Amino acid sequence: MRERRPFVGGNWKMNTNAESASSLARGVVDACESIHSAVELAVFPPAPYLLTVSSIFRSRSTSTKIGAQNVFHQPDGAYTGEISVAMVSDCGCSHVLAGHSERRHVIGESDELINAKVRAIIAGGLTCVLCVGETLDQREAGQTDEVNQRQIRTGLADVGQREMEHIIIAYEPVWAIGTGKTATPEQAQATHKSIRGLIAELYTQEVADRVRIIYGGSVKPSNAASLFSQPDIDGGLIGGASLKVEDFGLIAKAAASE
Ligand code: 13P
Repeated sequence: MRERRPFVGGNWKMNTNAESASSLARGVVDACESIHSAVELAVFPPAPYLLTVSSIFRSRSTSTKIGAQNVFHQPDGAYTGEISVAMVSDCGCSHVLAGHSERRHVIGESDELINAKVRAIIAGGLTCVLCVGETLDQREAGQTDEVNQRQIRTGLADVGQREMEHIIIAYEPVWAIGTGKTATPEQAQATHKSIRGLIAELYTQEVADRVRIIYGGSVKPSNAASLFSQPDIDGGLIGGASLKVEDFGLIAKAAASE
């Protein structure tokens, strides 16, 4: 039996509106009610809908968690437009993404800023999903491991061994995000294994054996089971398919049956 409980997150990105976010939240509760014992589930709605989703989940007593897609690392102050860890925690969040490729490559966040966010998220008592991944050019230049290792070493700088209980790593190859291209299960497994090896080197083998490393990048109902059956793939971070209740439910069930 797999020792690590799989985690499946739905990253809604900058999609939905008040009405569709509510109906998606209700749909996720209905679709996933029977599988909570086997898989940990979370949705990451846009910040303006966190409270709405939170109140729907509370009224339905679901175990599905709520996460924020981003936070700023400072606790408060003159940071117009930013949102603190305490604020998303107040909105019912238990998880936060950091280092998503769209924030690295579209918004321009550095490894150092991402590390500051990771530390703030953990210090605020939440779980951080640290996303890493190489671009197509980097993969073709044979730099896949080097890039992921650099993003992880810097992303986890000053994160202690005990704090690793509050870290999930998401491997999301940039070339597979929103493109319909998926890493083959073998490609993804090779990278996940190498990431777990790095965690053993940075911490201990026990920490490496416990940390969940999830895959993101065009996960669909049709490829979820083959990805999740790999020994070092502990679930997924789902973009486009998480906006369709039926697809998200099928992907979550694929993780639950591993
Ligand atoms: P897609 O599933 O749309 O490729 O997005 C993956 C992702 O970025 C999840 O965070």
